[in-house]
Amino acid sequence: MKHFRSPLFLFFLIVVFSASLSSSTIVSHDERAITIDGQRRILISGSIHYPRSTVDMWPDLINKAKDGGLDAIETYVFWNAHEPARRQYDFSDNLDLVRFVKTVQDAGLYAVLRIGPYVCAEWNYGGFPVWLHNMPNVEFRTTNTDFMNEMQNFTTLIVDMMKREKLFAVQGGPIILAQIENEYGNVIQSYGAAGKAYIDWCSNMADSLDIGVPWIMCQETDAPEPMIETCNGFYCHDYKPTNPSNPKMWTENWTGWFKNWGGKHPFRTAEDLSFAVARFFQTGGTFQNYYMYHGGTNFGRTAGGPYITTSYDYHAPLDEFGNLNQPKWGHLKELHNVLKSMERSLTYGNISDIDMGNSVTVTTYATSEGSSCFISNANTTVDAVVSFQGNQYNVPAWSVSVLPDCKKEVYNTAKVSTQESVMVAEDAHVSGIQWSWRPEMAEDTILKGKGDVVASGLFDQKAVANDASDYLWYMTRVHLDKSDPIWSHNMSLRVHSNAHVLHAYVNGEHVGTHFVKDGKYDYDFEKSVKLVHGTNRIALLSVTVGFHNYGAFFEKNAAGINGPVSIVGYKGDERIEKDLSGHQWEYKIGLNGIENKVFSPDSASNLKWSTQQFPTFRMLTWYKTPFDTPSGNSPVVVDLNGLGKGEAWINGRSIGRYWPSFDADNDGCSEECDYRGPYDSNKCAFKCGEPTQRLYHVPRDFLNGNSSNTLTLLEEMGGDPSMASFKTIGVGSACARAEENKVVELSCNGKPISAVKFVSFGNPTGKCGSFAKGMCDGAEDAEAVASTECVGKMTCKLEASSTVFGAADCGDLAKSLAVEVVC
Ligand code: GAL
Repeated sequence: MKHFRSPLFLFFLIVVFSASLSSSTIVSHDERAITIDGQRRILISGSIHYPRSTVDMWPDLINKAKDGGLDAIETYVFWNAHEPARRQYDFSDNLDLVRFVKTVQDAGLYAVLRIGPYVCAEWNYGGFPVWLHNMPNVEFRTTNTDFMNEMQNFTTLIVDMMKREKLFAVQGGPIILAQIENEYGNVIQSYGAAGKAYIDWCSNMADSLDIGVPWIMCQETDAPEPMIETCNGFYCHDYKPTNPSNPKMWTENWTGWFKNWGGKHPFRTAEDLSFAVARFFQTGGTFQNYYMYHGGTNFGRTAGGPYITTSYDYHAPLDEFGNLNQPKWGHLKELHNVLKSMERSLTYGNISDIDMGNSVTVTTYATSEGSSCFISNANTTVDAVVSFQGNQYNVPAWSVSVLPDCKKEVYNTAKVSTQESVMVAEDAHVSGIQWSWRPEMAEDTILKGKGDVVASGLFDQKAVANDASDYLWYMTRVHLDKSDPIWSHNMSLRVHSNAHVLHAYVNGEHVGTHFVKDGKYDYDFEKSVKLVHGTNRIALLSVTVGFHNYGAFFEKNAAGINGPVSIVGYKGDERIEKDLSGHQWEYKIGLNGIENKVFSPDSASNLKWSTQQFPTFRMLTWYKTPFDTPSGNSPVVVDLNGLGKGEAWINGRSIGRYWPSFDADNDGCSEECDYRGPYDSNKCAFKCGEPTQRLYHVPRDFLNGNSSNTLTLLEEMGGDPSMASFKTIGVGSACARAEENKVVELSCNGKPISAVKFVSFGNPTGKCGSFAKGMCDGAEDAEAVASTECVGKMTCKLEASSTVFGAADCGDLAKSLAVEVVC
């Protein structure tokens, strides 16, 4: 029987067929750029790591990235989070990589998947599972068969998962690029000939996975073909790929920096960051990724280290909580728009430079349809007046002007007109707080010295605890009688240690704690102790604060108590040492409270908690309190100032380690931050002498709507929980500056503007929070003008002009507007 095909049906077939064809995107590259369906592209990407936020936060973060002018979202893939035990996988909740990539796709953005699976990333152990280290004879990142098998197994798993979901561009998905390894070029020398063989193997292995889009290798000079090498750093304008057929690509433009416990707050200015970006595109770059665009939070025990903080804010364009970090976000957005408007000339134009002397360069990208220009002034102090094709341009030191038509400057990296938002943490007025406590039951360890494993000698914490916990008890006994040659009135315990934190107990008494303040993770701890005739019990609690994540052979860095451990007696000048290292040691992994899930809402109610004799500054103590969900939808934090060190849980979910008692060094900060000159992670740092981190993100989706919640703290070192409080984060005030005839726009991020604190049109001085009027000022009552425009409004615009603010008699001085509003 013949089927009659109606014209409508044929039309339907054509539509379906062409839709499936058009959804396949061909990604390739030539010497100039990544090409998408044959067209060279300017691609601006930003890193957002899915486990560093929550599923509920993803759409908002990604949309803010899109609104900020990004084309792509980049993420690493975190092996140890996905495969916590060998061949046991976890892609649930905020580890749902497929969902994350689909969220990127839904927003209409591309994705860049840096599989690694070594990622560095200030992530625990650089993303490697500790079980991998504990396989016999394994060596990481070299031609070690077991290592390569495991790496290939995980990489293939991820690639197959993406393929199954049709997430590669060639399948119609958003993934346009993938990465194998990470910055291997920085360490390759240390691995000798095996290093080269390994990176060739990585390339072949990746290539064989047939993903249909290009693979990249960052910081890998002369990456084996077909891998594309890319640059990482604060600046990449001088970078040139070794292979002339590779485009100039920048995978990590560090938007700020990460923090260590005991470190200051990093700060990279919008002026310097945009300068770096503009110079990169001025010098032929075509792909650029911000590391990080949103840094987020190291929840649970995911922070790397040792000693990386729970906050991974990074001073990124979106702050830890997802707020716009202004002016960075807005100033970059303007730059992205300008660069996009020049896409054709930047990718197809002929590039020519004119050296104007004194570090000033004019670059022209010429096409038959028109030209685009950049004027850069890399001088760190001297502003330039540049004459070019009959026009004059004022190019401040350390800045780039962008002229999409080679005539009109539409953007200069140092001229920031986006508002500066001063973020504040305000009391959330949370009700329902009622603290109770219970001790960590440690009789078995501290008093009895009983563990789960007994062995002769001291072993590395990674080998014994397999990263199941930060905590590992090392316990032994030593019998002393009066005749022991060591016996004296002056005896001490000596521990050579690589414990990131060490708490030592002798005969049930805490004798001392040591933590690393100077980056020296290998140290000697010695404390005088009271020993008795008969049996003495020594219990050492070793605590890790994230495993190393960087450097050649970093997996071999010792952790825990590697010894020798000895007791020392002094007889006059004579020092007698008794080495206990080879003794029988009992090991116990973790703390009883963690094992019994004291922090979990299910188990907590079966346990005894007390409000009586409430202790403060007591070591190894659990505290908990109910609290009501703060109203509104601003991000919530818990201010743990007053606490020592430990881990915090909200309704049973870990929000990370806390350590507010760890202050940053007193020096190295300065009042003034000059954006000019090369940035490094110490430049412009602030909060010297203050706690490295006192605010801890409590994601709203960890909270129970309108009902009560529980905050549980494991306080390891001693602190006072009654000082803790919940806060919400919002814009406290907003400031802006503009040259004459420019317009500033102010907003309080969803709140009405409540007052004008300062405004002057003339030559105002100072900075946000401390603006002052200069010698000249407009004739009108500026405050009244600005208040009428702004107060009570969600946003307002003010023009820096005499028409609005009255003529200011400033003589030869250039006039400008400065304004600060209160939110
Ligand atoms: C790079 C590395 C990233 C991250 C960054 C510093 O070397 O590739 O993963 O660690 O440094 O934030």
